[in-house]
Amino acid sequence: MSVPLHWDGQLGPAHVATIETAHRLYHFLPQALQRIRGISGRSAIPQSATVAPLAVGGGMAVYTMLLQFSDQEPYPLVCKIPHQRRIVYTTPTDHQSTDDTTRQLLDRLVALADHLAQRAPGLFPRSGGAWHWQETDGTARHLLVEEFIPGLSVERLKLQYEQQWLADTLDTEGYQQQRIAIERLAIATFVRLWDALDRRLFTSDPSPWNILVRQSSTFLSPAPVATIIDLHGLEEDVGLPYVLQRLAAVYGMRQDIIVEVLIPGMFDALGVPEGKALLRDALPALEAEADRIRQYLGVDMQQPLLQHVRALI
Ligand SMILES: Nc1ncnc2c1ncn2[C@@H]1O[C@H](COP(=O)(O)OP(=O)(O)O)[C@@H](O)[C@H]1O
Ligand SMILES: [Mg+2]
Repeated sequence: MSVPLHWDGQLGPAHVATIETAHRLYHFLPQALQRIRGISGRSAIPQSATVAPLAVGGGMAVYTMLLQFSDQEPYPLVCKIPHQRRIVYTTPTDHQSTDDTTRQLLDRLVALADHLAQRAPGLFPRSGGAWHWQETDGTARHLLVEEFIPGLSVERLKLQYEQQWLADTLDTEGYQQQRIAIERLAIATFVRLWDALDRRLFTSDPSPWNILVRQSSTFLSPAPVATIIDLHGLEEDVGLPYVLQRLAAVYGMRQDIIVEVLIPGMFDALGVPEGKALLRDALPALEAEADRIRQYLGVDMQQPLLQHVRALI
């Protein structure tokens, strides 16, 4: 029995066809639900599903699928379709086609999501799986399904605080505190990612757009939960120096960011003793990188970071 699909809003005909084909060929909805929620059998079969656009996306178009049940609350899923001929995540090596690379990378993303679901629940959306097939004309198609994360991005929250400050509903000190707290949470979350990926892999885009803070957690719970929604390019074999440099490049090399956001966020994720031990090990690499940048750019951008690290360890 096929689940009827409804369409809400502007969907490209190619994307409608992709979702319909995956639905017809693979019955991907019950499978995805089983992987994400751990339910199976009749309760994993929705009565209907409504597909609506969520974001255009850089590498993939993002849709929500709201599943309706006769005996359960509606349940949302996220479905992602790579943009045609757009290389998702990384550049292919010479002997690989874009399609092979896309397939491998999406499968890898599913495997990483499964790993993270065990190691650090809530840090990354649970995966519903990835499906790949070919049209009769040979065109490769891909579909990725994952848990919907209800929340606002760190970037959007910062914008909200700024608007509250401009509207005078938040004073300057309150605004600073909120901004620092949310950025520190972002740093802690990205460092937890590195930690949960065996301190070996890191995202090349740890930006405040790619992290959602769960709505329910912003005011009620003292420890808000943040989820990374986009791993983007993955960097292999990277240690703490790389992670700190990437985060500082995105959130700022300024003294106040380093002292109030970067290092405290890292300590939140790893604990103070462990964090200090890792900083001690990282110092030579940080110094070498600072030298390299000084020679290359002629400016000493990394001094605030080095000074703070030396003072701490
Ligand atoms: N699992 C998810 N739950 C809720 N929203 C999501 C989810 N994945 C993506 N989004 C939304 O879609 C946007 C784009 O997704 P993302 O994976 O970051 O793609 P890209 O960076 O290529 O544009 C995100 O900024 C977010 O608003
Ligand atoms: Mg993104």
